[in-house]
This record gives sequence, structure tokens and C-alpha cells, in this order.
Amino acid sequence: MVRVRLATEEDVSLIYRWRQDEEVAYWASGGHGYSAVTYSQLLERIRGQRSDSRSLMFMVEIREDGGWKPIGACSFRDFDAVSRSVIIGFTIGEKSYWGKGYGTRALRVFVDLLFQRYNLHRIQLDTFDENRRAIRCYKKCGFVREGVLRKAFWTTHGYRDKIVMGLLREDWEKNRAGQ
Ligand SMILES: CC(C)(COP(=O)(O)OP(=O)(O)OC[C@H]1O[C@@H](n2cnc3c(N)ncnc32)[C@H](O)[C@@H]1OP(=O)(O)O)[C@@H](O)C(=O)NCCC(=O)NCCS
Repeated sequence: MVRVRLATEEDVSLIYRWRQDEEVAYWASGGHGYSAVTYSQLLERIRGQRSDSRSLMFMVEIREDGGWKPIGACSFRDFDAVSRSVIIGFTIGEKSYWGKGYGTRALRVFVDLLFQRYNLHRIQLDTFDENRRAIRCYKKCGFVREGVLRKAFWTTHGYRDKIVMGLLREDWEKNRAGQ
């Protein structure tokens, strides 16, 4: 029903459209950070993706009407081969799909892919305190709140507390064994 695959040049227009949407950009990055990336920068980033890159972008797709429909994008950055850790970003760009469980399902698929393919020890992410839906989604996927960086997240509505969350391989394994 849900899959995650590497982003390609054909996905750039769609990702760019999502990033230009004010509401998506606000929740994804507080606003400016998401929409400030130009089409050419996105294209360059995706063209430059190699399997050994320290950052990679992926697409979230769902099975609909007999085909795969892209509804969001996710990524990792700061791949650290020594500590076996990454920081991830995750967004369902199609707003009509928010709040229907797709984000949770897709994030689980992404987390499985990261732990399995990249043999990670730890996955980290962050958001701002107001983004309750994202925090709930991350918790459902096993992420634990690890810290608060006070007023470290700039948004178009002012500075917000940055919530840092992490998922360890051992917890992911335990969760899978219990499923
Ligand atoms: C955050 C996001 C990935 C979550 O995906 P989703 O498909 O919308 O979320 P799900 O439906 O799987 O789960 C959302 C959960 O949050 C809950 N929720 C929704 N709004 C909420 C709110 N205001 N306060 C508390 N919980 C809320 C839902 O009830 C659901 O929990 P439940 O299953 O226990 O009822 C998606 O909404 C999104 O991409 N939003 C815009 C960009 C963004 O916020 N990206 C994250 C940046 S860090």
C-alpha cells in the first residue's frame, strides 16, 4: 500500500510544487527554509544523488487506482558512517492525505529501509513544538523525545522550541519483534 523509493529528476516538479505551498512549507520547516530552495537547486541536488551520498531524497508513494501515486517526500542527511546515524526529514506534500494514517505508515517503511539498507544505529529528526501532528506521528513510529532546544526553530510566526527526537536500532528491533 505504501512504498518509499529514491527520488529522480522526474519528481522535481512535484517536490517543488509542495515546497511552494505555504501551509506545507510552514509545517515542514517553519516556512522560509523549505520554500527558499529554487527549482534548479532541487534539480541539481537530485541529479547529484549517488548511492554513497551523505544525503539522499526519496519519494513516498501509495497504491491508488492500480498505480503508484507520489504523495510526499522524505530524506536523510548527515550520514555518519562511524556512529551509523542520520538525520531525517519527512513530509506528506499532498495536503488531502494528511491525518489519514499515511504518514505513519510511510515513516515506518522509511525507518525499516534505513535500518536495513544502511545498517544504522540511530535515526534523528526534529520539528517545532507546535507541530503536534508530526510529533504524534513520530511517537507512533517509535521515536522518543530526547530534548528541547529553546526557541531554536525559526518560523514565520516567530521562534519556536525545537523538539529533537530519536529512534535507536535496539528499540526498532524490539518494536518489530512485538508486532
Ligand atoms: C506530519 C505528517 C508527516 C504526519 O503524517 P499524517 O499522515 O498526516 O499523520 P497520521 O495520520 O499518520 O498521524 C497523525 C496523528 O496525529 C494526530 N494529530 C493530528 N493533529 C493533531 C494535533 N493538532 N494534536 C495532536 N495530535 C494530532 C492524529 O490524530 C494522528 O494520531 P492518532 O492516529 O493517534 O489519532 C504530515 O501531516 C505532514 O507531512 N504534514 C506537513 C509537513 C510536516 O509537518 N512535516 C513534518 C516536519 S518535521
